[in-house]
Amino acid sequence: MFSHLKAAPADPILGLMATYREDPRDFKVDLGVGVYRDESGATPIMAAVKKAEAARLAEDVTKTYLGMAGDPQFNARIDALTLGDHPARRDGRVFTAHTPGGTGALRVAADLLHRARPEATVWMSDPTWGNHPSVFKAAGMKIAEYPYYDGKAQSLRADAMLDALSKVPAGDVVLLHASCHNPSGVDIPAELWPKIAELAEKQGFMPLVDMAYQGFADGLDQDALGPRLLAERLPEMLLCSSCSKNFALYRERIGAISLIGESSAATQTASSVMLAVIRNIYSMPPAHGAAIVARILGDEALKVEWLTELEHMRNRINGIRQQASAQLAAAGVNGDFSFIARQRGMFSFLGISPEQVTRLREEHAVYLVSSSRVNIAGLNEDNLPRFVAAMKAVLG
Ligand code: LMR
Repeated sequence: MFSHLKAAPADPILGLMATYREDPRDFKVDLGVGVYRDESGATPIMAAVKKAEAARLAEDVTKTYLGMAGDPQFNARIDALTLGDHPARRDGRVFTAHTPGGTGALRVAADLLHRARPEATVWMSDPTWGNHPSVFKAAGMKIAEYPYYDGKAQSLRADAMLDALSKVPAGDVVLLHASCHNPSGVDIPAELWPKIAELAEKQGFMPLVDMAYQGFADGLDQDALGPRLLAERLPEMLLCSSCSKNFALYRERIGAISLIGESSAATQTASSVMLAVIRNIYSMPPAHGAAIVARILGDEALKVEWLTELEHMRNRINGIRQQASAQLAAAGVNGDFSFIARQRGMFSFLGISPEQVTRLREEHAVYLVSSSRVNIAGLNEDNLPRFVAAMKAVLG
């Protein structure tokens, strides 16, 4: 059965995480996997999460099955967080299921699309998160790319993107990042979302928005502006969201998929197919992460505490972006890295070669993905000078 299999290549992000852990150098700097780190380089459990967990432990009375859509309280509260007080919610056009992480939501979306329209192509930004193409291909979907990131100008190829979207055939799907684009850090500006909505309407394609970093760029509402606008203007949409980053619940695997249909009845029918898809993949999601998030969002004091912690994380990332950009310039590192300060979320491309990435890792214990994507949240006041010195040594 298995003897003919060829070894699969290591995942470019998770493989790097394993190599980093094995590196004995105590001055190593991890700018690889997309995990938030605080000023001391740690990824602590948020205080609001700790409290919600303790309360759950004390009050929980059963471990019986939840059901295919997961925790109804979580689903209602995550809808309020992602979509806000949205007409689609008031009109009964939204159906949400909680999923094992944002990746679980994407896989449910992919399988659902395959049942609904197997001939559809899923269009993704060039570049996109490395796992996006494989998740959709694994479900049997065809994929294609639309232009997105200009590596020379470190900015959005807005005209080329809109031009490509103006040719997407009816019935196809366009995957968009709500904010904190992974891997480029370059987001769709507010004024472009209405144009995307217009094109979707004109062409008849459906948006699928991946919102893995709500609250990490400019704020919870600001970061959700795109999907909220699309859900208002278009008859149908899928929204995949994640609580890995904004609740720092990475290993609990908690995310959500929201289906927005053209009417309440249409949503109900489609949601029955979504539930069948879920039953076939993992039957029902694990409960713990959802219970924590539901409790935080349903308790005024915990919610305020969480919001304050989230704001601190966002401000730290935006602050360290400014510092990294300024210190690379002050050290005279070859190149213009001012874009780091302008971009949002955890990631930026340094725009250096794979050989330079290897030298940073082997000679200076600075770890980044071979595409030159860096997790800016891995930098702090302590390791920033070492990162800048390593960049100076490798780039001149
Ligand atoms: C990343 O892009 O580093 C994160 O989303 C973690 C992952 O699963 O790849």
